[in-house]
Amino acid sequence: MNYYDKLDFENIPSHIGIIMDGNGRWAKKRNLPRTFGHKEGTKRVIDIVETAYKLNIKSLTLYAFSTENWKRPEDEISKLMDLLAYYIKNQLEKIIKNNIKINVLGDYTKFPSSIVKLIDNALQRTESNDKMILNIALNYGGQTEIVDATKKIVKDIGDNKISIDDINTETFKDYLYTKGQSDLDLLIRPSGEFRVSNFLLYQLAYSEFYFSDILWPDFNENEFYKAIYDYQNRNRRFGGL
Ligand code: IPE
Ligand code: IPE
Ligand code: MG
Repeated sequence: MNYYDKLDFENIPSHIGIIMDGNGRWAKKRNLPRTFGHKEGTKRVIDIVETAYKLNIKSLTLYAFSTENWKRPEDEISKLMDLLAYYIKNQLEKIIKNNIKINVLGDYTKFPSSIVKLIDNALQRTESNDKMILNIALNYGGQTEIVDATKKIVKDIGDNKISIDDINTETFKDYLYTKGQSDLDLLIRPSGEFRVSNFLLYQLAYSEFYFSDILWPDFNENEFYKAIYDYQNRNRRFGGL
């Protein structure tokens, strides 16, 4: 079925987050090394960013590397870094042309210096773009993000910039990596796992969850439309009636 034709363009989620999972299993099914799955997965990143842009989504957050992913073998981590570098080099001009702003969620300075340079350049060159924000979660953990926010708040209180009474669930958001962006409307997790794996813990308070058995390298545009179509048929009550 073609889900694009079924979409309600008046009800496109503002902020979508994707846990891009299943690359390793995709490769294993084909008797290929896991890194082939990551390579194919990178192609889906290119497609989905383009699709989100065309749908006028305001924020797209892609989980690319978690604070827990350092537990993986060194050669797999290094291949993931190579693919990230490839993605930035290959896509930056298009991203700039499309007026997309890149924002990194997480401490990417722990990555190799060549990658840090590429990221810094991409951040700087897309700084004033405002059609869509592409949040790339790199060395990201939702718990770390909340702890980081808490530390910044304590510091601002210590520096007399704010007082304790200024802190509430809304002002807290100004200390998150997604400052200025809306909460997550739709969380997509392919690959058949039913967990959030430390992703956007604060922002997903009222997200709709969409789980799919499709592995990320097979997650094409139509799967993305399907997830949005599913979202559009939910009844979001936010605690009301
Ligand atoms: C990609 O999928 C997620 C990343 C950490 C880049 P995985 O590498 O987790 O693939 P599976 O879950 O082992 O299949
Ligand atoms: C979550 O996937 C992290 C990313 C997609 C970057 P993982 O494969 O690392 O998560 P778990 O281990 O299944 O929870
Ligand atoms: Mg996985």
